[in-house]
Amino acid sequence: MSSCRIRTETSSRADGTLRADAPSANVQQTPAMSDVRITTLTDGPLEVDGEVSIVAPDGTVIRETSKAYLCRCGHSGNKPFCDGSHKREGWTESSS
Ligand code: FES
Repeated sequence: MSSCRIRTETSSRADGTLRADAPSANVQQTPAMSDVRITTLTDGPLEVDGEVSIVAPDGTVIRETSKAYLCRCGHSGNKPFCDGSHKREGWTESSS
């Protein structure tokens, strides 16, 4: 989800009132607070909640989803996703 804020310029008229000028030349996009929440699970992956695109370094979209678990232990055979290997490896937050 994204939003756009349109900034209008104002100028003073001779009578002292303000006039809003057409925003066509002054459209400015600003990032909005995302609805995505990322939670670090104890001794496990990053839990991603919210509409996201997970993108490879070359820009290829790997997955568009509203829920994902991303590996942070480095042991997954399916990076960037968690495949449960953190448990098999006995990975803990304090072991990294
Ligand atoms: S966090 Fe689960 S495999 Fe890495």
